[in-house]
Amino acid sequence: MDTIALKNIKFHYPGSDDIFSGLNFSLTAGIRAGITGSNGSGKSTLLKIISGLIKPQAGSVELFGNEMKEEKDFSRFRTKIGYLFQNPDDQILFPEVEEDISFGPLNQGKNRIETGEIVTEVIKEFGLKSLKKRNTFKLSGGEKHLVALAGIAAMKPDIILLDEPFEWLDGHHLQIVLDYLSKVDSFILISQDVQLLKRLCAEGEIYVLEKGLLKKEKGEGHVF
Ligand SMILES: Nc1ncnc2c1ncn2[C@@H]1O[C@H](COP(=O)(O)OP(=O)(O)OP(=O)(O)O)[C@@H](O)[C@H]1O
Ligand SMILES: [Mg+2]
Repeated sequence: MDTIALKNIKFHYPGSDDIFSGLNFSLTAGIRAGITGSNGSGKSTLLKIISGLIKPQAGSVELFGNEMKEEKDFSRFRTKIGYLFQNPDDQILFPEVEEDISFGPLNQGKNRIETGEIVTEVIKEFGLKSLKKRNTFKLSGGEKHLVALAGIAAMKPDIILLDEPFEWLDGHHLQIVLDYLSKVDSFILISQDVQLLKRLCAEGEIYVLEKGLLKKEKGEGHVF
């Protein structure tokens, strides 16, 4: 089954040229796909269209077999599809790390005790114990990215959309994120690091976004 299907998507920002003028893409359940491409090619825009943050001028977005027509359709799936924004400042909502990570499970209807257990587990997994009570707005770029990803992990989504999750991470924290992603069944991962995409994504599921189309990445030596 396709969990995400984009059909004939056309999109341009107001007053700008088309970014997509007939894009098709689908993600089958249990598949990990990777997308790379030049700066400004539309990778982040694509994830915003999938998550309903921006609406294409034409074409359809289907999630779990349902066509998304308006905001309330997308909102039904927000807790099933996690979305790590490229800029963590857009993602973090609360002033304290622990509180921010708790938001997702509480929003899913978990009680305080269940939420506390999940948050403790996620904080341990992402090595965030020392940041638990820290002010989110004063964290470093890498720390913010980790907190944002931990907040998504706490929701245990079916699919994750990841926009450049490796940016700013040191070797130790990169390994933590790689370990986490290796346990996630289904994601769309945007990265400039083709080697990491090859390590994490399914065979034949790495794409290059170029001139508004997703083309399968061909073998070795694609250099950006
Ligand atoms: N809100 C906006 N209004 C107008 N133009 C926009 C807006 N957001 C993005 N763009 C433009 O749309 C194009 C695609 O942007 P997008 O952020 O999707 O690219 P990207 O592939 O994610 O780039 P990067 O690798 O730098 O993250 C760019 O030319 C960008 O300047
Ligand atoms: Mg981007």
